[in-house]
Amino acid sequence: MSIDARKQDLDSLRSEGDLNISPRRAAWAAGHLDEATQALLDDDARYFLHQSLSTPCLNVLRACDGVYIEDHQGRRLMDFHGNWVHQVGFRNPRVIAAITAQLQTLPFCTRRYTNVPAIDLAKKLAALAPGALNKVLFAPGGALAMGMALKLARMVTGRFKTISMWDAFHGASLDAISIGGEAIFRRGIGPLLPGAEHVPPPNPSNCPFGCERACSLQCAGYIEYVLEKEGDVAAVVAETVRSTPYIPPPEYWQIVREACDRHGALLILDEIPHALGRTGTMFTCEHYGVVPDILVIGKGLGGGIFPLAAMIAREDLDVAPGRALGHYTHEKNPVACAAALAAIEFLEEENILAHTRALGAWTLDQMQAMMERHPLIGDARGLGLMLGMELVKDRTTMEPATEAAEEVMYRALARGLSFKLTMGNIILLVPALTITQEEMARALDILETCITEVEAEFPTENT
Ligand SMILES: Cc1ncc(COP(=O)(O)O)c(C=O)c1O
Repeated sequence: MSIDARKQDLDSLRSEGDLNISPRRAAWAAGHLDEATQALLDDDARYFLHQSLSTPCLNVLRACDGVYIEDHQGRRLMDFHGNWVHQVGFRNPRVIAAITAQLQTLPFCTRRYTNVPAIDLAKKLAALAPGALNKVLFAPGGALAMGMALKLARMVTGRFKTISMWDAFHGASLDAISIGGEAIFRRGIGPLLPGAEHVPPPNPSNCPFGCERACSLQCAGYIEYVLEKEGDVAAVVAETVRSTPYIPPPEYWQIVREACDRHGALLILDEIPHALGRTGTMFTCEHYGVVPDILVIGKGLGGGIFPLAAMIAREDLDVAPGRALGHYTHEKNPVACAAALAAIEFLEEENILAHTRALGAWTLDQMQAMMERHPLIGDARGLGLMLGMELVKDRTTMEPATEAAEEVMYRALARGLSFKLTMGNIILLVPALTITQEEMARALDILETCITEVEAEFPTENT
């Protein structure tokens, strides 16, 4: 493979997470992992099929609680990654109690039967979701729920085409990667779903319409252009906000919503990582005053323990009683539903959404102040407790500082703060929503110490 091809390969791997095959990973492992841990990692690598980003693994975990994970050597780290499942914190006592109680009575529900936790959860989600989003189906994972949404859109509209976004992620199954937009999932896998059209996402730092970091909303207008040209699109499918994070301007979803209505296309919003509080509201579309036709949630829905996702659809889209939309073995799993009900109760009773909004705003202020002190930071942005910091070589060109970002990540890890990089140079800060301001301040201190050190070693154009 040529150096250029190899570099392109590494860059596409960096789109979703940090590299698990880099020399810095190897150096970190050599300096921090003992023999017992290394033996476990070797066994993991021996028995699991290897795939990008996850295998070989970084370390071995033996416990978690609240904001923290604990590795096999007993080191506690603040987990600012958590795969976006840890809204209520790890091992949340209320969720554990609900699961334990449910395990003693009805741990599984055979198809053709229903059960109280599943009915209560469907009722609760219908009550919480905006507008007429009152009909629910569960699935044991986000990609599966996205698949149900795509099937429902086809059944409702009698059309099969979709418009989704480049760079998007909707899950790793074949249907989900067809509408996803990341090369790492799509490249070299053969034919994907037909009619899966892609458009540029609302990402002003890499905008083909040339809006140069101040979104001109031309990308929203372009969706209507494609809807009109195609003429028979079943659905526009997108993440309400992108986890990188990219947060579209306030008018963006209003424009897309109206365009969908004019062209008879459904709007499917994927809020799998962000619904249930991450951005400070129960559902992220609430920030935009827009109601999709189908809303898909997951991840934290299972209380940070169970794999559970849900499609919440407009009531009048219940049009396929004779067809199979999901039909998953665990589609009404009582334990998963009990966990979800307990997690939602926790969010409500502990006022976690208000805490997320207040602490998110405070943290963003701190990050922006840090940016003034450190030229390596090219941007700091976020919504609620979905926060990100972009490291750059040069604030004018915003050339990514990928090497520096990786160095910051491993130094932070050594000091007890775990986070993931995305797009190579973006530090993603996604803590449990139960984190206190003191804990957040400690995490930011670690981050700033590491940035200060790395800045000295990787001078930027701005210094
Ligand atoms: C936006 C988005 N959609 C869908 C998924 C897929 O969810 P799952 O891994 O549960 O299939 C993810 C997972 O990371 C996601 O971030």
